[in-house]
Amino acid sequence: ESYDMGGHDTYMHKEICEQPDAVDRVLRGRIDDRFSTVHLGGLNLDAREARGVRRVKILGCGSAYHTGLIGAQLIEELARIPADAEPASEFRYRNAVVDPDTLYIAVSQSGETYDTLAAVQELKRKGARVLGVVNVVGSAIARETDGGVYVHAGPEVCVVSTKCFTNTAVAFALLALHLGRIRDLSVADGKRIIAGLRKLPEQIAEVLSGEEEIKKLAALYADAKSMMFIGRVRGYPVAREASLKLKEVSYVHAEAYPASELKHGPLALIEPEVPTVAVLPDDDLLEKNRATLEEIKARSGRILAVAHQEQEKADHTILVPRNEVELDPILMGIPLQLLAYHSALALGRDIDKPRNLAKSVTVE
Ligand code: G6P
Repeated sequence: ESYDMGGHDTYMHKEICEQPDAVDRVLRGRIDDRFSTVHLGGLNLDAREARGVRRVKILGCGSAYHTGLIGAQLIEELARIPADAEPASEFRYRNAVVDPDTLYIAVSQSGETYDTLAAVQELKRKGARVLGVVNVVGSAIARETDGGVYVHAGPEVCVVSTKCFTNTAVAFALLALHLGRIRDLSVADGKRIIAGLRKLPEQIAEVLSGEEEIKKLAALYADAKSMMFIGRVRGYPVAREASLKLKEVSYVHAEAYPASELKHGPLALIEPEVPTVAVLPDDDLLEKNRATLEEIKARSGRILAVAHQEQEKADHTILVPRNEVELDPILMGIPLQLLAYHSALALGRDIDKPRNLAKSVTVE
């Protein structure tokens, strides 16, 4: 892959469009149909060690931290290991208890983010087992960790992460499946997730083919004073990342909240100038989410939904194809990358190099 723009006006657009191929790459050679699992050659964690893991703690910054939130949910759902994610920058400063039965995972596109690297070094000094989920091969975090999973997104040039975000989420799905099949995930569930993973490249291409529609929606919402992003459980990390993406590239203020927390404060902000983007997978929380949409409508809030079916309460719905529920966050993030991109374009922003930001922050 070269650094050529390949006919695109920006790297961000090029990298968004590369996602079907990028996801194909992270899957390639790793799926084992015979045992309904995946092989992760660099993991350096045998079955006995994997069975001994009592907790998983994922550390990263920015978009990498958000993929960690998705990763933690996947690991908890598929491998039934309690898991959570925390910004690496917070973790390293709070003198956290380092537990020998916890598997620590550092996640980073560049593999050079100083806060994440410092967290890894502190963990290693205290004898912890640390794996990396990293894009850049041979980077500092890849070298310092005991093993890990490369995400194979290819070079990402735009400051704002898109394809690497998606590929990292897929890499976490692979890791969760691998750990799950060593522990208690059934063959049938293993097969189900593998079939879902295989569908992703084509489904991502399908979402990308709706770009013109998303461009029109971005123009409609570009006048927002601020945007609210909401989701429950699987939808929540997607809302977090979409909100960060919009802020980074369009400079529109945005906030992400669990949909259930809206009534505990941020509902006070809802008015026509503050639209809400709602991430609504068709899972067992859909009814709860619909009730939240009603609360927003009652305050005259505009709603843009990302969902598997048309949402009556929403002013607009972006439809995404169905996959397995555990993989919903991966697909639902894609249209929101395009929304951020086209909002920034409509507002005339410098898309590949947003003000005040760097691709990787290698200083404290
Ligand atoms: C910077 C970038 C973010 C990125 C974060 C982590 O803050 O502006 O877009 O998510 O670093 O970078 P990493 O290379 O560790 O994934």
